[in-house]
Amino acid sequence: MAFKLLASLLALAAVSNAALIRKATCADGRTTANAACCALFPILDDIQENLFDGGECGEEVHESLRLTFHDAIGFSPALTAQGKFGGGGADGSLITFDEIETPFHANGGIDDIVDVQKPFIARHNITAGDFIQFAGAIGVSNCPGAPQLEFLLGRPEATQASPDLLVPEPFDTVDSILARFGDAGFSPAEVVALLASHTIAAADHVDPSIPGTPFDSTPGVFDSQFFIEVQLRGTLFPGTGGNQGEVESPLAGEIRLQSDSELARDSRTACEWQSFVDNQTKLQNAFKAAMAKLAVVGQDVSQMIDCSDIIPVPKPVTGQAHLPAGLSHNDVEQACATVAFPTLPTDPGPVTSVPPVPPS
Ligand code: HEM
Ligand SMILES: *[C@@H]1O[C@H](CO)[C@@H](O)[C@H](O)[C@H]1NC(C)=O
Ligand SMILES: *[C@@H]1O[C@H](CO)[C@@H](O)[C@H](O)[C@H]1NC(C)=O
Repeated sequence: MAFKLLASLLALAAVSNAALIRKATCADGRTTANAACCALFPILDDIQENLFDGGECGEEVHESLRLTFHDAIGFSPALTAQGKFGGGGADGSLITFDEIETPFHANGGIDDIVDVQKPFIARHNITAGDFIQFAGAIGVSNCPGAPQLEFLLGRPEATQASPDLLVPEPFDTVDSILARFGDAGFSPAEVVALLASHTIAAADHVDPSIPGTPFDSTPGVFDSQFFIEVQLRGTLFPGTGGNQGEVESPLAGEIRLQSDSELARDSRTACEWQSFVDNQTKLQNAFKAAMAKLAVVGQDVSQMIDCSDIIPVPKPVTGQAHLPAGLSHNDVEQACATVAFPTLPTDPGPVTSVPPVPPS
């Protein structure tokens, strides 16, 4: 009995000792769980200073997050089953084979951030696949209210370009969007969670006459306003009407994608959508889990090193969930059949319009 107790105490000591030994102090004094992650600190500093303008949650962060998705979703077991190459997932092929992938219709405008990120990859010892996901995770950490995303290191160089037509378009049906994500391994609930990305997002190309038009009123904060505002009755086009993939929005200066509008109102996704309206903790946890999956699509996780502790911890959310000034619960298009839309305060004052995201 006494021997057993001693043995387990010794085992415990060995475990905590190993944990202590694994904690590495890097050349600049910063610490991380694994010495192999030390090489990321200089890259982190370069990204924050020179890609994200000193740690902002602005246009380059939005574009870098979109890039994590467009690289990763290039992965199709359905194509592989037909004997074709289905893409390598989060492998950096969108940058390595940018001359093939950036002209794909769904990648419109992505060449901007590809061209901005390329010199960073060239001056550091990191693969394009790792860099895209690393920059995305750092970028999200600059947005108040975001979760600290995971980051695993070790994606090999892409060997081939991804095939066309794997990135969803805003004019696709809900059936086709859910099928495409399902092929890549994501459930309808995970699709809704991933769309939290559109709370820190704007469109340059859906209506080219109004570049930088955001999807919600707070594109610099990772809050739930996107889920609230997409559920409000659309009444206007912020620019010109008749753009493919665009439907009416509830606020001047705000743009709404047809795909977001339909996912908010489809019986398969509406209740999940509504569940994020007034639950910041759920929003953070669900987005973090879905992004962790997205970042390693097509990759062999057993060959990767967990460097998540390098990613900065974001600031807490600013403001609280609300209806925009001048609007009320009568403007909510209730779509979840089982739970009522949460009661929210309305911002005081007259109806406002949403300013564009400034280019940097
Ligand atoms: C149904 C799936 C999706 C569709 C149809 C879609 C479509 C779009 C479109 C059309 C734009 C505007 C691009 C432009 O005109 O500049 C956009 C922007 C964006 N998307 Fe998505 N998206 C989807 C899912 C996602 C996912 C899963 C993520 C990330 C995890 C994401 C992140 C973003 C971000 C951050 C932007 C803003 C880019 C910027 O401000 O420059 N999207 N999306
Ligand atoms: C570059 O990174 C790889 C893998 O992370 C590492 O094995 C290699 O030693 C590094 N090369 C240099 C020159 O630092
Ligand atoms: C938020 O979501 C979590 C997870 O689904 C749930 O357990 C919790 O009850 C929700 N909180 C509120 C206030 O709705």
